[in-house]
Amino acid sequence: MDPFVFQNPTKLIFGKGQNEALVNEVKSYGNNVLLVYGGGSIKRNGLYDLVVSKLKEAGVNITELAGVEPNPRLTTVHKGIELCHQHQIDLVLAVGGGSVIDASKAIVVGAKYDGDIWDVITKKAEPTEALPLGAVLTLAATGSEMNSGSVVTNWEINEKLGWSHPLAFPKFSILDPKNTISVPTDQTVYGIVDMMSHVIEAYFHKADHTPLQDRIMESILLTVMETAPRLLEDLENENLREIILYCGTMALNGITQMGLRGDWATHNMEHAVSAVYDIPHAGGLAILFPHWLHHTLNERISRHVQLATRVLGVDPAGKTEEEVALEGIEKLSAFWTSLGAPNRLADYDIDRSQVERMADLASNRGVFGNFKPLTKEDVTEILTAAL
Ligand code: NZQ
Ligand code: ZN
Repeated sequence: MDPFVFQNPTKLIFGKGQNEALVNEVKSYGNNVLLVYGGGSIKRNGLYDLVVSKLKEAGVNITELAGVEPNPRLTTVHKGIELCHQHQIDLVLAVGGGSVIDASKAIVVGAKYDGDIWDVITKKAEPTEALPLGAVLTLAATGSEMNSGSVVTNWEINEKLGWSHPLAFPKFSILDPKNTISVPTDQTVYGIVDMMSHVIEAYFHKADHTPLQDRIMESILLTVMETAPRLLEDLENENLREIILYCGTMALNGITQMGLRGDWATHNMEHAVSAVYDIPHAGGLAILFPHWLHHTLNERISRHVQLATRVLGVDPAGKTEEEVALEGIEKLSAFWTSLGAPNRLADYDIDRSQVERMADLASNRGVFGNFKPLTKEDVTEILTAAL
């Protein structure tokens, strides 16, 4: 195991009926709130009316930033920062999925930073303070509700960058499964692929003696795989929504990564793909992950074999390690495809014309990936195999 320090300050307010906690949480930070949300799903499912009426009743002044894009953009973050300055905002309240929460993280840090928030995202500057952030999560997927990470796209230069900072942890996050019932089939599938990918990224590490970490990760994956098909048959089932919601948070709140460093190259490659094509994050992951697994088969094959046998149901009897690992990759890919996830870049009309550009974008800060460092040539190979 690698030595580690674990600190997660987010107050997680989880479960049925927990929307009730909102007013008290918000009021403990002040009266001027910037309400940040996406393209309108919260207006259609009634959550907007609920949040606004409860806060107004409690005397809270609300300023709104609507229209945060899936794959949130720097220009939107800039707008939010300006609104914080204009309205003396005490708390930013993100009501939405990962994109809304990620944009809000950049807003709370940017509002207290003198220069351009892009400097923080690109790690040229170190912030020293931030406004408080609260979240009401509406989509089980990213784990952003309980981590310090955020992903923002600078569309002018086609850079989609992940960054993280302790100041970006939400102070509180409300996860009421009711708020996720209206998530349509495709976004539900993307969320499932994303949370599984977060676990698999962490699973491919080089630390030894991690039996508890491995089993925590395996149980998240097994729970998601057992629940996902049932949920897709029964999208309004609040109990199944609740299980998946909890899995999504546990997959990326730091608990799986104590004592080890996951790989994360597939996320980096996916960000390069969505920086050029603006595709859904987990659609890209479902396509790229099996090819990354192929590419790294001989890196430390025992990890591949363990995933295949303990999680993906591969019977190793009479097979070589390579055969077991390959069968595991096929089973993972088949599982995602059975849910309705894409499995080729061509599913998003992506052809070889931009492969080189995407490989450049993925590798322009040097080799990346902790389990197997990838060069531009590796990325080109993986993207080409995924066409
Ligand atoms: O914009 P609205 O109208 O709200 O609609 C959204 C959006 O179209 C919709 N949606 C959300 N909740 C809904 C709903 N529709 C109906 N009912 C609801 N209750 O779903 C669509 C996708 O939303 P988005 O927030 O973009 O999805 P997700 O949560 O998957 O977030 C994706 C973003 O997070 C980043 C990704 O790169 C991407 O930019 N990531 C953030 C991470 C983090 N902060 O730790 C880690 C991840 O690996 C990921 O990279
Ligand atoms: Zn992800």
